[in-house]
Amino acid sequence: MKPLILMLCLGLLASCQQNTSETESEKVPPAPTPTDFMNELWYKNTLIYSVDVEVFQDSDGNGIGDFTGLTQRLDYLKQLGVGTIWLAPFQPTPNRDDGYDIADFYGVDPNLGTPQDFDKFIRQANQQGIRVMMDLVTNHTSDQHPWFRQARQRTDSPYRSWYVWAKERPEKWNKGMVFPGVQQAIWTFDKQAGEYYYHRFYDFQPDLNMQNPAVQREMRKIVRYWLDKGVAGFRVDAVPFLIEIADANFDPEKPSHQFDIITQLHQYIQWHKRDAILLGEANVDPKEQEPYFGKDGQNMQMMFNFFANQHLFYALATAETASLKKALNETKAIPPTAQWAQFLRNHDEIDLGRLSDSERSKVYAKFGPDTTMQLYDRGIRRRLAPMLGDPRLIELAYSLLFSLPSMPVIRYGEEIGMGDDLTLQERLSVRTPMQWSTSTNAGFSTGTKMVRPVISQGPYGYSKVNVATQRSDSASLLNRVSRFARLRKQCPEIGLGAWKVLDTKSDHVLAIQYNWQGRTLVIVHNFSPEPQQCAINATTKGQRKLVNLLDNQSSAVGATGIYTAQLPAYGYTWYRLSS
Ligand code: GLC
Repeated sequence: MKPLILMLCLGLLASCQQNTSETESEKVPPAPTPTDFMNELWYKNTLIYSVDVEVFQDSDGNGIGDFTGLTQRLDYLKQLGVGTIWLAPFQPTPNRDDGYDIADFYGVDPNLGTPQDFDKFIRQANQQGIRVMMDLVTNHTSDQHPWFRQARQRTDSPYRSWYVWAKERPEKWNKGMVFPGVQQAIWTFDKQAGEYYYHRFYDFQPDLNMQNPAVQREMRKIVRYWLDKGVAGFRVDAVPFLIEIADANFDPEKPSHQFDIITQLHQYIQWHKRDAILLGEANVDPKEQEPYFGKDGQNMQMMFNFFANQHLFYALATAETASLKKALNETKAIPPTAQWAQFLRNHDEIDLGRLSDSERSKVYAKFGPDTTMQLYDRGIRRRLAPMLGDPRLIELAYSLLFSLPSMPVIRYGEEIGMGDDLTLQERLSVRTPMQWSTSTNAGFSTGTKMVRPVISQGPYGYSKVNVATQRSDSASLLNRVSRFARLRKQCPEIGLGAWKVLDTKSDHVLAIQYNWQGRTLVIVHNFSPEPQQCAINATTKGQRKLVNLLDNQSSAVGATGIYTAQLPAYGYTWYRLSS
C-alpha cells in the first residue's frame, strides 16, 4: 500500500480510536480496519447518475414518473455502469421549484409512489450493488410546509424562530437573489405574520433559521430518518446559503458562514453509517473552498467542481486549454479523503458566473447565442448535445468527464444526448421526460397527459434519440458512455492517485498524469477541431512503454524520454505506462 493511502487509513484509524474514548462505549461501532477504509472511499471512483423520479419512468400510466418505474429501470442503470443514484427531491411538495420546495421532509410525494415503493426501490438498488443518495434541501421549506404555516400565524408559535424575520424591510432587500431577473427580492412582507421573511431563493421558499439549535436538531433527525431507510449519503443543497448567518441586519452580499454546522452533520452521519457521505452544492471561488471540505476533511467529502466546469465549457467553446489547466490547479489542494464531483450538465443552468465577461461572452456566442438559451444573467439552459452539436466534441467531453481528477456525475438522458425544450420556463428546459424508445411518449408513459411535454419534434425528438435505438448501435453515444464507465473502473488511479497537469507544448491539448500504487496513467485530450501533435514527458525509469487503453496498441518511448503523440481533431487517448 502506498504511504499516502496507508497514512490516510492509519490517520483515520487513529482519529476513530480517539473518538472511542470520548463516547459512550455501548454505542461505539467496532474499530474499522484499513480495508474498511478502502471501502469507505467508495465515492472516489463511483459513477453518480442524477435522476428526477417524476420524469424518468411512469409505471401506472398517469403521466408522472414513479419509484416503481425507476425500480424497473435499475437493470438499465446497472448496465450503463452506474454505481450511485442521486435522487432529486421526492418528498411531498407543491412542486413550484421542481420539488426543491418541500412540504414534508419525512414523506414520499404520493404522485411518485408510496413509502413502500421507495423502500422496495432502495432494496433492489442495493441488491444490484447500486447506492442511493438523495438531496438534502434544508436551507428552506415550501411556504406550504406546516412549520411555516404555523410560524406566520402567531408570534408565539414555537416555529416562529425556525425562520428568519425582520420587522422593517432590510436595506438590502433586493440584493443577493439567486435567480436574478426572475426573483425580485430576498425579503418579502407576509401579511399574516406582519413581518418580512427571508428567502435566498423564490418567495415561496422561506429560509430556515439554521442558527436555531432546534432547526439543526431537526436537520439531523431528517438525515437519520433517511439513513435508516438505506440512503448512502446526501447531495447537500445550496450549502453557502444553508450555513450563512442570516438575520434582519446581515449583509447578503458579504455573509458570514458557520461551517461547524457541516462538521456536525458530517460527524452525525458517519456516526450512524460509517461510509455515508455529503456531496455539497457550493459554487465557490477556489480561495474559499478549503472550509467547505474542512482542513482535515472534517466537513464535506465531496463538492461539485463548478469552477472547473465553467472553465471546461470555456475550453470546449474556444479550444484554448490554459484557463481549464489553471482552474484544475487552483482547485487541486483538497484533503486526501475528499473528492471533487465533475459533471457536464446538471438539472440547473450551466453557471458561467465565475468567468470574466469576455470569457463568458465567448461561451455564450458558441453554445447559447440566443437570449432564450440564457438565464439569470450568468448561464445557459440547454442540454449538452444540442449545445456542443459535433458528435466528436460530445465524445471528447465524455472522455474528459470520466478522466478528470474527480468522480463523474451524469444527468439522466445525457447519456443518449437528449435535447432541450426552450419553450419551457427557466430550467425546466432540461427536465423533460426520459426518452426510452420510439413508442408513444418515448416509452416514458402510456398515459395521455404528461407531467411535462416529451420532446417529440426535431433532431432530438424521441423517434431519433432514445435508449432502445442506441442500445443496438455499437457506435451510439450510450454505448460510448458505458465504455467510458467500464474504462474508468479499470483505472482506480484517477480517483485515488496523485495527479498533475503535464506541459504538452500545445495550447489545445490537456494531458493529465495519475500515479497510484506504482501505476501511471496519462490521459490526453485535443480540444481543437484540427489535428494536434503533443509532447508527453511522463515516463519514469523502467516505464518506457505507453499502452493505449482504447485499442491496446503500445508505443515505445525513445531515448529522450519524451513521446510525441499525434491526436486527430477532438481526439483523445488514455495511456497506461508500462515497462
Ligand atoms: C439548488 C438546486 C436548484 C434549486 C435551488 C433551491 O440550487 O440545484 O435546482 O432551485 O437549490 O432549492
